[in-house]
Amino acid sequence: MKVVIPAAGLGLRFLPATKSMPKEMLPVLDRPIIQYVVEEAVDSGADDILIVTGRSKRAVEDHFDYSPEHGDHRALGRLDELSTRAHIFYVRQRRPRGLGDAVACAARHVGTDPFGVLLGDTINVCEVPLLKQLHDRFVALGGKSSVVAVDVVPDSKVSDYGIVAGDEISPGVIEVHTLVEKPALADAPSRYGITGAYFLTPGVFRCLRETPPGRNGEVQLTDALRRLLAHEKLYAVTFEGKRYDIGDRFLWLKTNIEFALKDPEHGDRLRAFLAEELGEPSGVRRMTRRPSAPVRSA
Ligand code: G1P
Repeated sequence: MKVVIPAAGLGLRFLPATKSMPKEMLPVLDRPIIQYVVEEAVDSGADDILIVTGRSKRAVEDHFDYSPEHGDHRALGRLDELSTRAHIFYVRQRRPRGLGDAVACAARHVGTDPFGVLLGDTINVCEVPLLKQLHDRFVALGGKSSVVAVDVVPDSKVSDYGIVAGDEISPGVIEVHTLVEKPALADAPSRYGITGAYFLTPGVFRCLRETPPGRNGEVQLTDALRRLLAHEKLYAVTFEGKRYDIGDRFLWLKTNIEFALKDPEHGDRLRAFLAEELGEPSGVRRMTRRPSAPVRSA
C-alpha cells in the first residue's frame, strides 16, 4: 500500500520553535509527531511511504535515516523497524500552496494505484489503525471509490474543517453528495468534519490539476474531491478511535499531557506533580485573603 504524508506546512503557529525545525518534528512524549504518523501508515500495511516536504524540513529525512553515531541504541528499535517494513521516499513541494497542491506533488510517485493520505501533524490512536479501517472500507465498498474519515464537529469548529454531507447508507458510512472547505457555520451542509485521513483513487490527481486555488488562496484537497464526485462515488466514514490534531501550541501541550498521563513510566509521577502544582494556587489565594497587616482605610 502506498501512503502519502503531506508535511510541508510552515508551522507559523509554533514560531519561534519552528523557525528552522519542522513542526512535524515537535515531540509528543518521546517521539516526533511524524513518527507516530509513519507508524500508523506501516501498521495499516503501507510498504511505500512518500513524505511531501519543503524548505527547512531536512530533519524529517534525517530522522528516518540510519545514523551510525547512534548505532543500535535501544530507543531507536521501533524507528529502525519502520524503515525495514516500508520504503520511505521524499518529494519537495516548491511553494506552500495548500494541502491539495502537496498531494498533487505525489502524482508521479503514486501512479495508478489507490493510496492513503495521512496528515503529518495529526496522530490517530485507534485499536485498528485508522488508515487500515479506511482501506478495509474501501475494499468492502467495491475498491473503486475514495473514502475519507470524518467526525462530528461542534458548531464552533465547523469553519476549521472540510465538511461533507450526503446519505448515510449504513451505520457510519455516508455516500457523499457535497464537500465544502472550511465553510461559515451558516453555510455548512452538515457537522461531519474531514479529520485528515483519506484512502483515495488516483482519479483525484486529474481533479487536482483542474482545481484552482480556493479557501485562503490555497489548492484545497476538499475542492478536488468535490470535482471527483462528477466521475466517481465518494464515501465518508466515521471511525473508532481518537484523533489528536496538533495544529497549535495548546493542542500540542494538551496532547503531550494526555500521552504522558497514560504512559506507564511517567503517568503516576506526572499526576503527583500536577496535583502538587494545582494545589498551590489555592494556597496563594489563602495567603492573599489573610494579609498579615490590616488594610488601612484612606
Ligand atoms: C486540512 C483539510 C481540511 C481538514 C483538516 C483536518 O485543513 O484541508 O479539509 O478538515 O485538514 O485537520 P488544515 O487543518 O490543514 O487547514
